[in-house]
Amino acid sequence: MTDHADHSRRNFLYVAAGGLGAVAAGATIVPFVGSMLPAADTLAASKTEFEVSTVAEGQLVVIQWQGKPVFIVNRTTDMLNRIQGHDDKLKDPMSQAMSDVQADWMDTEEKRINRSIKPEYLVLVASCTHLGCIPLFKPTEGQKDWGDSVPADWAGGWHCPCHGSLYDLSGRVVNGSPAPNNLHVMQYKYMTDTKVLIG
Ligand code: FES
Repeated sequence: MTDHADHSRRNFLYVAAGGLGAVAAGATIVPFVGSMLPAADTLAASKTEFEVSTVAEGQLVVIQWQGKPVFIVNRTTDMLNRIQGHDDKLKDPMSQAMSDVQADWMDTEEKRINRSIKPEYLVLVASCTHLGCIPLFKPTEGQKDWGDSVPADWAGGWHCPCHGSLYDLSGRVVNGSPAPNNLHVMQYKYMTDTKVLIG
């Protein structure tokens, strides 16, 4: 199988997750499948459990929490390395602008940079802070896989197709984007070593 074919296959890999529909995604707008949506009373629930170990290394899945899509990414060491060294290109590298509404677990410099409790597992509201589109996951470096939708020095992250906002692999918004803020990080905690309770 070619790299391209393998990449495409991974972009459409479906996984079951805690009774909720979840879909692994690459550079695609992620559709929610009607039959996989939770019932209305489930949507109304304020908390959602998810087993993060079901997310393969380097992959993203989308789940729902309170009716909103949520990105969960299992970041590789390489991806974590690529959130370093470009603070000067970010609007808010330490997530100061949203500090009054950020999750209270974000209490160290490392967690503010990683924007996660455990470095590898990133949990973010999947909604662009400009007008709410779902950004596309473009995790590899440079323009080889993405063309000029990202800059030549792209370190990986998300590209919002609506008006071109860019976010790095911690969901931090890149300078020049119409989006004002980093992707929102919500309250969550680990119930076990690999099970998170969101909300
Ligand atoms: S909604 Fe994302 S850039 Fe406008």
